[in-house]
Amino acid sequence: MKYEQTATGRRQHTVDELHEIYRRFSTQSDESGLYDQFLVPERAEGLHVWFKDRSEPYLDLGMGFSALNFGHQHPRLRKAVAEAVATIEHVHSFNSESKLLLSKALAEMTPGSPNKKVYFPVGGAMAVDTAVKLARAYTGKTKVASFTGAFHGLSFGAMMLTDDAVIDKSMYAPYPGEAVRLPYADCYRCEHGDHGSQGSKCRFQCLQTAEQRLRQDDDIAALIIEPVQGHAGFIVPPEEFIFGLKNLCLERGILFIDDEIQVGMGRTGKFLAIEHYGVEPDIILLSKSLAGGYYPLSAVIARADIWDNISPAGSGIGSTFVNSPWATQVALEVLSVIEEDGLLKNAEKIGAYFTERLKHLEQFDCIDNVTGLGLTQSMAVVKSKETKEPAPEMSKRIQSEALRQHMIVCCSGVERDRIKFVLPLWVDRRDIDMIVAKLYRIVKAVVATS
Ligand SMILES: Cc1ncc(COP(=O)(O)O)c(C=O)c1O
Repeated sequence: MKYEQTATGRRQHTVDELHEIYRRFSTQSDESGLYDQFLVPERAEGLHVWFKDRSEPYLDLGMGFSALNFGHQHPRLRKAVAEAVATIEHVHSFNSESKLLLSKALAEMTPGSPNKKVYFPVGGAMAVDTAVKLARAYTGKTKVASFTGAFHGLSFGAMMLTDDAVIDKSMYAPYPGEAVRLPYADCYRCEHGDHGSQGSKCRFQCLQTAEQRLRQDDDIAALIIEPVQGHAGFIVPPEEFIFGLKNLCLERGILFIDDEIQVGMGRTGKFLAIEHYGVEPDIILLSKSLAGGYYPLSAVIARADIWDNISPAGSGIGSTFVNSPWATQVALEVLSVIEEDGLLKNAEKIGAYFTERLKHLEQFDCIDNVTGLGLTQSMAVVKSKETKEPAPEMSKRIQSEALRQHMIVCCSGVERDRIKFVLPLWVDRRDIDMIVAKLYRIVKAVVATS
């Protein structure tokens, strides 16, 4: 066996040795065993990841669970990180210039009056928890409404809002409350049999159900929604649905929390996905790509009067690593990259091309309902297009075959029946052609052995 020294003096381990360490010492209850091959990532750049002992790179269409809207190792962001960490790592309870400038930028560039205040927790779930605290304190009410298919994170507060159908929550109960569960407008799998006609036949039964539930309960502080559902497989609801919900919130004094943690930061072709609907949220949540995927920085952007309702000292809002001085510096560079490189326009334009090209895969009997917005797309894997019966085992086989052919894709959806594609916002038509041609070969290989 050959041992090589790393720069830090630690010896290099073989993949087999690492697998044994994984088997004995690493938990398998997290998501580290999602794929059926044991691969050890070594380096990454652009669209590609290199794994230990594999000479060919892997095409990454998962992009770190949407944390890498700018791809791997974007040169400007890598430079910004190096400069920021060389200057400062952490100071608690002081206001860095970058934190203040990032607050101002986010307050001004998001929908609604710029009269907002911004706080920077760590990770998405902490942002969700903070939004629930704000809503309860502001309204004096306790319940929060969320949706079928929703994923809002796995802290206790966020988990009460995540749908049981997405995550098995039973073994950790009880939670700090139960969500008021409302039906999401997933028109392809509409429980009223509408099947994709976007409200014309069903008269928005989902909205009518939401209306009934929100009107009969006076203890609802907030409604939290993903304007395009992420874990559910990039489900894009019709405009009338989001609009109707916002009107209900206004009528009932319920705060509208817009969870953009997965689909914000330009992913859908606009800075926020909610901008496709022209609706003003009361609270907006960002994370994942906010600091370019280098740090789990998140943001809670809320109307100033909502924040001002919380007394400043001893507020029960905070954590050691909030308001990171270096990560907020990187996030400012992220905003410059989006603007200077015209990434929103590119995501919109190339996203439309991606949808058009992906639709060619619908020629396979098992592939249906290519959907998404911008550079966030997915397709349903079904037993039959007639019945739309989900085919999770087939979607798993496509994921495995993709990995065998050096492509990383993510099985998703409430029934694990959708394959999701997450691309950097700078991809061009040539990238899309190459990706779709490879996907075609992968699906064809799976179909041929079915
Ligand atoms: C929409 C949404 N909200 C919240 C979260 C939780 O974020 P984190 O995993 O950083 O806690 C996620 C994570 O995937 C998400 O997609």
